[in-house]
Amino acid sequence: MTEFVINGGRKLRGSIAVQGSKNSALPLLAATLLVCGEVVIENCPELSDVDCALEILTYLGCTVDRCGHSVAIDCTSMHAHDIPERLMKRMRSSVVFLGAILARAGRAEMTMPGGCMLGPRPIDYHIDALRALGADIDSEGDRLICRACRLCGCDVFLPFPSVGTTENAMLAASASRGSTRIMNAAREPEIQDLAGFMNAIGIPVRGAGTSVIEVEGGIRTHGTHYAVMTDRIAAGTYLCATAVCGGTVELTNARPEHIEALTGALRRAGCEILEKPGYCKLTAPSHIAPVGIVETRPYPGHATDMQPPLMALMCTAAGTSVFIENIFESRYNHIVGLRRMGADIQNEGRFAAIHGVSKLTGCPVTALDLRAGAALVTAALGAYGETSVSHIEHLERGYERMDEVLCGLGADVIRREH
Ligand code: EPZ
Repeated sequence: MTEFVINGGRKLRGSIAVQGSKNSALPLLAATLLVCGEVVIENCPELSDVDCALEILTYLGCTVDRCGHSVAIDCTSMHAHDIPERLMKRMRSSVVFLGAILARAGRAEMTMPGGCMLGPRPIDYHIDALRALGADIDSEGDRLICRACRLCGCDVFLPFPSVGTTENAMLAASASRGSTRIMNAAREPEIQDLAGFMNAIGIPVRGAGTSVIEVEGGIRTHGTHYAVMTDRIAAGTYLCATAVCGGTVELTNARPEHIEALTGALRRAGCEILEKPGYCKLTAPSHIAPVGIVETRPYPGHATDMQPPLMALMCTAAGTSVFIENIFESRYNHIVGLRRMGADIQNEGRFAAIHGVSKLTGCPVTALDLRAGAALVTAALGAYGETSVSHIEHLERGYERMDEVLCGLGADVIRREH
């Protein structure tokens, strides 16, 4: 087991070139299946979830050549249409391979995906969207068997703007006859990045970033070079960490327009934030103010992925903040660790009231999922004394060399193997 040992209380100062986005890279890697020929994905973060996506592509028969943040993928020789359970269970995003494999091979087989334990994470919207496009989908226990002799473009209505469902529908629509409109589509920046990639390989996609996305199907694709966008959640996490510790951080390749809900909250907390295109600088106040009510919503609302690190910041604010988690049923896995460190948090279902205390104290805590781990690291950086955060394999799914990034800002973080 590997853990981070963090000695808190050091101010953070410096500059970070934020990593490529995990939640963008994963659907882009699935989308490379739409191309017969070479695609080069640049700025691809080195994360365990990305390793898993590349293993899936290799299993399917694609050639994968990785060199640092650049991955060359050639899916010309794809020969399989199934994904083994061991790969499906490693991450939730394996499910976006469903639309891509179906588009490419006309059939797909896989088990239910794994991923962070955030309450029930069904895939009924995905299945309904693919069925609307003409796929036959049967389930045998945990196994899904999908066939699509002919996918047909149509209007696909989503009951909720689900990110993964929108991605799956876009991918499957690319192989459909005619055009498809996805109504009530997710508007997240990651959807816009996927649309950018699909346009770059020759598939016309319009409307990404709005609630109606149109995809033109049946168009011949071609290879491309495409750079993954900056990770808005990693960017936001490092802003929260700096706000907790005091100090100043510059994000040199940020997309401030992607994190406006967060920067709005950080300003309410007293942080000074300077934004320019591609740049964001945060200077922490001497005392953090409570942010009031933070209610998670689909983009452009407060991102559910930012809720845990922002809650960690509120633990030492001068007053009470209230969080309402609307996206996932059980996304408060960080509360147990924050309470161990001395946080005063009341939690009832979707609601959490955080009454700021003057200090948190380091102790052993466990990362129960990716962003819960990010919250514990954030809290530990500002706490008195030593905190050990175990199960950092969760963090390594989404944050590239987090310990080195934080040490580069002056934090005291050591990786310890047991
Ligand atoms: C994506 O998950 C992200 N993951 C999540 O990030 C993020 O929290 C989430 O979007 C919301 O922004 C990736 O992009 C890989 P959804 P996804 O489908 O696509 C329900 C992280 O920490 N739902 O928008 O799985 C679902 O249960 C991760 O990086 C159904 O009921 O999210 C949830 O309550 C965690 N049936 C809500 O919709 C379905 O078929 C939103 O899920 C699909 C979803």
